[in-house]
Amino acid sequence: MAATQMGPAQERFDVLIIGSGAAGLTAALHLAPSRRVAIISKGPVDEGSTRYAQGGISAVLDQADSFESHVADTLDAGAGLCELDAVRRTVAEGPEAINWLAGLGVPFTREAHEGRSRLHLTREGGHSARRVAHAADATGLAIEEALVGTARGQARIEVFERHLAVDLILASVEGRRRVIGAYVQDGETREVQTILAPMVILATGGASKVYLYSSNPDGATGDGIAMAWRAGCRVANMEFMQFHPTCLFHPQAKSFLISEAVRGEGGRLLLPDGTPFMERFDPRAELAPRDIVARAIDYEMKRLGVDHVYLDISHRSPEFVREHFPTIHQRCLEFGFDMTSEPLPVVPAAHYTCGGVMVDAHGRTDVPGLYAAGEVSYTGLHGANRMASNSLLECLVYARAAARHILSDTDALTPEALPRPPNWDESRVTDSDEEVVVSHNWDELRRLMWDYVGIVRARDRLLRAQRRIHVLMEEVHEYYAHYRITPDLIELRNLVLVAQIIVRSALERRESRGLHFIRDFPERDPNLHPGPTVLSPPAAQRAEPD
Ligand code: FAD
Ligand code: SIN
Repeated sequence: MAATQMGPAQERFDVLIIGSGAAGLTAALHLAPSRRVAIISKGPVDEGSTRYAQGGISAVLDQADSFESHVADTLDAGAGLCELDAVRRTVAEGPEAINWLAGLGVPFTREAHEGRSRLHLTREGGHSARRVAHAADATGLAIEEALVGTARGQARIEVFERHLAVDLILASVEGRRRVIGAYVQDGETREVQTILAPMVILATGGASKVYLYSSNPDGATGDGIAMAWRAGCRVANMEFMQFHPTCLFHPQAKSFLISEAVRGEGGRLLLPDGTPFMERFDPRAELAPRDIVARAIDYEMKRLGVDHVYLDISHRSPEFVREHFPTIHQRCLEFGFDMTSEPLPVVPAAHYTCGGVMVDAHGRTDVPGLYAAGEVSYTGLHGANRMASNSLLECLVYARAAARHILSDTDALTPEALPRPPNWDESRVTDSDEEVVVSHNWDELRRLMWDYVGIVRARDRLLRAQRRIHVLMEEVHEYYAHYRITPDLIELRNLVLVAQIIVRSALERRESRGLHFIRDFPERDPNLHPGPTVLSPPAAQRAEPD
């Protein structure tokens, strides 16, 4: 892997991968032996949600567990909207995915069992068995480090760090409209360059930063979903934005996540007076699926007029807590909380984008040549609510599927056969002297999404959100048309579009299901044929179907 500086020339690769998290790097590693791959990442190569993943990665690894059980739990958490084929395929590939990661050097936590060493498996919400392989409580960091470390040894992978994809480039090739690359802004020079490739994989992660409070890193701005939409791809299930029940409540903590594995290892949720409350909402109590737990916390906070509840694992020994949750323990100490001896104040925060760019079993989108993998995509696995630790697994399974499909296409266009598109044109724009407009609109958007499109929704609030988003969108377009682009403007442009799609999807679903709870229709509608909410971009943008 070489870190590359690019000039104004149009660079050509076999495959362009946008994003360097679990999905992007997995795809790159499967492709690199025989393809020249460019990976672009808008931050440092190891930045993205992957490095912050805590609990682990789910797979059937215990004799007492079964594929049927993992499938059944996933379907149950997904509230009737998962696509069975996608669930079966993903679950079946779980053990192989873990082996592959272990082979790359991921230091999964092990335990002694009957004189032998085996993987320690933890539990999380919705799982009826211990099924989550982990590297203590910093699984994502261990995975990201192993993937980056392996990619560094690959001469055919070139990484462009701090390069932001602005938009996909489409062109007609052999009479068919297809993707041929992307316009990419160099974070240092601010120059917009052209990278061409006959195959492009979107691996840009989710969009949880559309909300004011989120467990996600700053880059989770839905760029891939917005780019794919503008290129003509359908997106599905965007009303199902997942709120993680337990983020640390502290003004400086930036919604630091307290892993669901803390509840898996016995952590209890308590009201301010110390009373447990989850049994009132679900017989599985703290280990109910996330939508149920987050909604229960939200309900209790509103009922009591309090700004947080508590998560308590202090009944376990301090040694156990420090051994299983070293990162969380240390981070909480920095904020003045010792979880070995006191409960932690927690609140829900936006965490995961269950919907995304529609793909098939090979990761193909509606646009020829364009694939998507990881959180950016909608595969059908998560339905109306993702089960804990199924996300990293999905990244690995679908990134590999996309890579395999690309490798199997022996008639693929060569990079040299692609037409030369126009360079990015900045001749009619000037530098903005009002950056405050962008930062103000960022704040306004994220706050209105939190207030009007959050855990509990209502039609009148969704409509209010829709009107405001429309105004923000017009302002952002105006700005985009007249001023030189900046990373903040690009991300805001994408977030506003994603917000609009979320609200439209929420308005279309006239029932409550999984993560989408709407007061006007508080029950699941038994007459509604369960299926994803699919939105299509305006016809003029749509590419020819593959
Ligand atoms: P990411 O890892 O988010 O990577 C996205 C990449 O795209 C980054 O490299 C970013 O720079 C790049 N990018 C984005 N936009 C652009 C652009 N315009 N131009 C160039 N580059 C771009 N899931 C589990 O299964 N188990 C867990 O224990 C778990 N814990 C979690 C804990 C936290 C705190 C968070 C936030 C998430 C957790 N998740 C967990 C979810 C899981 O981590 C993510 O869904 C998964 O890592 C997403 O991987 P990805 O490769 O799709 O995207
Ligand atoms: C966690 O550790 O609670 C996060 C797990 C996930 O998002 O899958």
